[in-house]
Amino acid sequence: MNKTVEVLPDKEALIQRSLEIILSQMQAAIQKRGQCTIALAGGGTPKPLYEAIATQDLPWDKIHVFWGDERYVPADHPDSNQKMARHAWLDKVDIPATNIHPMSTDGESPSADAQKHDDHLREFFKVAVGEFPHFDIILLGIGDDAHTASLFPHTDALQMTDRLVTVGNKDGQPRITFTAPLINHAHCVMFLVSGASKQPALAQIFAPEADAMTYPARLIKPQGELWWLLDEAAGQELKK
Ligand code: 6PG
Repeated sequence: MNKTVEVLPDKEALIQRSLEIILSQMQAAIQKRGQCTIALAGGGTPKPLYEAIATQDLPWDKIHVFWGDERYVPADHPDSNQKMARHAWLDKVDIPATNIHPMSTDGESPSADAQKHDDHLREFFKVAVGEFPHFDIILLGIGDDAHTASLFPHTDALQMTDRLVTVGNKDGQPRITFTAPLINHAHCVMFLVSGASKQPALAQIFAPEADAMTYPARLIKPQGELWWLLDEAAGQELKK
């Protein structure tokens, strides 16, 4: 694992720096592998980043977009991570519809939809059961409770080691989420963290010792690059 932690002066600088890194990771992936596979984070922090990516002149036919997690709501629901990213980025660029790989949330059950997306990833990446594909980039955020993607404290999703996609549980509300092992097989994982409310969670995530079941972002130890991009409000305590 190659870990980098950067504390940027403010949210705007955080977004600009994350854009720089993503563009260079995309370029490197396309040069090496002919395409770039990127999985998006939900929540509010990455939205201005998606808006910034939409202004770039990129080879959209070589970029495949996925989501690291999704709220179990219809695709046109205000809480949908897919809806947010389409509005902020994907609807504004000439990316082929077949390059967009949302998690379905309209099947017979959350576990059926999780299985459906697990199958889709295995087919897309041509990996057998028991194997893990390597995303080029996976974007993540953290909650005030140190959850990431939809891997919430003390939930079954944290124990999943033989699957790519599973059902997350936010206070009884189902989610669809990548598992920690899938995230840890990525070439590059980027955390974008903004705001003072994240300081206590970051203190536990960066502490030498703490329980990963209580602070799930501690489960993220990718084989490849790990970037922690924080704004000052979030990261000031880590600088001390
Ligand atoms: C989601 C996310 C989740 C998010 C954190 C941080 O669907 O909610 O994927 O893991 O990244 O909750 O959210 P904010 O960026 O809104 O603080």
